[in-house]
Amino acid sequence: MNIILLGAPGAGKGTQAEVICKALNIPTISTGNMLRAAVKAGTEYGLKAKAAMDAGDLVSDDIVIGILKDRIAEPDAQNGFILDGFPRTVPQAEALDAMGVKIDKVIEIYVPDETIQQRLSGRRVCLDCGATYHTAFKPSKVEGVCDVCGKPIVIRKDDEPATVISRLQTYHKSTAPLKDYYGKQGKLVTVEGQDKVEDTSKIVLEAVKA
Ligand code: AP5
Ligand code: ZN
Repeated sequence: MNIILLGAPGAGKGTQAEVICKALNIPTISTGNMLRAAVKAGTEYGLKAKAAMDAGDLVSDDIVIGILKDRIAEPDAQNGFILDGFPRTVPQAEALDAMGVKIDKVIEIYVPDETIQQRLSGRRVCLDCGATYHTAFKPSKVEGVCDVCGKPIVIRKDDEPATVISRLQTYHKSTAPLKDYYGKQGKLVTVEGQDKVEDTSKIVLEAVKA
């Protein structure tokens, strides 16, 4: 099964992807995590992506489409995958169609902008394995340390309040039109993402299995 998770920055896509990934035993493909890894490694496209990411803008379609295409060709993605953070523009969705990728479901996690600021100000992430925490809502067992891999967890550079505002604007302008794109194909399911993580997971899993 191929699933797309759609939603504003901080809506909980990464958090819910971890749950679906375990339930269906398919990998999560997060373009955000792949881009952050490329920035950390200093690769050519990492260097190109860094300025856009730090400013809360989108990385160019050709870079992101290129890395996505390589990733979905890998062996572990042949029985299905969850796309977290891709597509983010209509041209990216069209590129996915052109690659012949059949999307089964698009789950939109809806959270109002006011809640996003609060969520992102408390977010902590592991730059090593990509696990996500929140100081109030999902703390790690040991403060500052990743439960999964034991490495330090940090504040993401683009979670500063001013950058979060730009990311929200970018979302409404460039990514929200995808609701229409997939709505017309009858694939869009919108779930409320404001409840507790576990409660949201229940409705997300119901939507995936329906
Ligand atoms: P990306 O990493 O994809 O960031 P994003 O879409 O902004 O999404 P986030 O990771 O911020 O949020 P999320 O929805 O996953 O929420 P999370 O689960 O962490 O992209 C980063 C950048 O890379 C982009 O700005 C762009 O520059 C570039 N990029 C990536 N993909 C691209 C593409 N396709 N094209 C072009 N550019 C691209 O949750 C947030 C916080 O809330 C966490 O702390 C979590 O613990 C907490 N939380 C989650 N659920 C709940 C809940 N129910 N209750 C309380 N707290 C909760
Ligand atoms: Zn980790």
